[in-house]
Order: sequence, then structure tokens, then C-alpha cells
Amino acid sequence: MSDTSYSTFARIMHWSMALFILSTIPVGFLMIQEGLSRSLQNSLFIYHKNVGVLILVLAVIRLAYRGFRPPPPLPDHVPVWQQRAAGASHTALYVLIIAMPVAGYVRVVAGGFPIETLDAMGFPRLVPESKPLAETAKTLHFYGSYVIAGLAGVHIMAALQHGLLKKDGVFSRMWPPVRRGAD
Ligand code: HEM
Ligand code: HEM
Repeated sequence: MSDTSYSTFARIMHWSMALFILSTIPVGFLMIQEGLSRSLQNSLFIYHKNVGVLILVLAVIRLAYRGFRPPPPLPDHVPVWQQRAAGASHTALYVLIIAMPVAGYVRVVAGGFPIETLDAMGFPRLVPESKPLAETAKTLHFYGSYVIAGLAGVHIMAALQHGLLKKDGVFSRMWPPVRRGAD
């Protein structure tokens, strides 16, 4: 039988990454606000940095798996331009899902700040301390955060349009997180 929907593993990866990214973005914007108590701000930063690194690890696993098991083709009734747009937006999302944590990592490590879980595991600090490098990474992370938030918003609207209005089977390619039937 040829696949028409994503495997359970791909779905679990998608929904866990979606959950982490959809929490990392608002936490990122919140933690830089003025007037927060020091302890709340510290907790938000710890969550943001460490979950951000976890997102990078999950994305690398997901992309490696995707290489072995590419996504099933979209149904024929989806117009070609929409298939192309979906492919391009998924590629852009993956670029950002990798680039954002990398820029965040460089910003923090080059700035001389801790990344608690990696430090506790004795993971080497992969970039030298450098103010200009930290500032460049900070700028890239800042602009990237608006692009990923915007793209994720468009992606979610498109997915919901398929799931709630068109009901054309595209949403159920990824939902529920565990695929019913053989995998
Ligand atoms: C997919 C992963 C990530 C997303 C979507 C994300 C998103 C954001 C957003 C929306 C902000 C607030 C806007 C800004 O000032 O840039 C932010 C700030 C920040 N993020 Fe992330 N981030 C991610 C990963 C990381 C990682 C892995 C680290 C570090 C290990 C990190 C470190 C920071 C820091 C330190 C700030 C405060 C701004 C600064 O001083 O540079 N982020 N992030
Ligand atoms: C409520 C939130 C979300 C819903 C309802 C949703 C829904 C979906 C659906 C239905 C697909 C399959 C599309 C197809 O068959 O071609 C998909 C794929 C995908 N989604 Fe989401 N999504 C959500 C959140 C996110 C977030 C936050 C991100 C990342 C920022 C994301 C990134 C992706 C990517 C990269 C793919 C392509 C998967 C692949 O081919 O490897 N999604 N999503």
C-alpha cells in the first residue's frame, strides 16, 4: 500500500517540535520585557535556551529521518501551485528551525552566558567569547524570530483551513499524532 499520510514517528516529531516552538516564541518575547521580577526572568531564560537547544536536536533527528523516509506526496486534487507553496514553506520553516537555535546558541556562548543543560553535561562551548560575534548573532536571532513567528502563523492558518473548511484530507495527513492502522 502506498503511503498517503505521515508516519507515526514523523507525526510525533512534528507535534512535539510544534509544541516546543509555539512555547519558545512567546517566552522569548516575554523574557525580554522590562519590569519582570529577576527570578521570573531567569526561569524564562532557562526554559527558552534549553528548550531551544532541544528543538535543534529534534530537528536534526527529524531531517535525518526525512532523508530516509520522505513525506508522502500531497493528494492530486491539491493544485500544483499549492503543492509548490507547501514545499517551499516547509523548507523555509526547517531552515529557521535550525538557524534560530544556532543563532541563539552563538549569541549566548559568544556572550559568555551559560546554557545550563549543555554545561551540566560537560558539552564543550563551540564558539569563542566575542562581543561582535554575540551582537551579530543577536541581530540575526531578533529578525529571524519575526520571520519564524509569521511563517508559523501562515502555516497554522493554512493547516486549519484544510482541516476545518476544505476537509480535503490534508490535515489528517499529520493529525492525530499517532497514525491509526498499520505504520
Ligand atoms: C526554535 C528555537 C528558538 C526560537 C523560535 C526563538 C525565539 C526567540 C524570540 C521570539 C525571542 C525574542 C525576540 C528577540 O529578542 O530575539 C528570542 C530571544 C532570545 N533567544 Fe531565542 N529562540 C530560539 C532558540 C534559542 C536558543 C537555542 C537560545 C540559546 C541557547 C536562544 C537565546 C535567546 C536569547 C538570549 C534571547 C534574548 C535576546 C538577546 O539578548 O539576544 N534562543 N528568541
Ligand atoms: C496548531 C499548530 C499546527 C498545525 C495544525 C500544523 C499542521 C500541519 C499539517 C497538517 C502538516 C502536513 C502538511 C502536508 O500534508 O503537506 C504539517 C507539516 C509541517 N509542519 Fe505543521 N502544524 C502546526 C504547527 C507547526 C509549527 C509551530 C511548525 C514550526 C514552526 C510546523 C512545521 C511544519 C513542517 C516543517 C511541516 C512539514 C513536515 C515535513 O514534511 O517534514 N508546524 N503541519
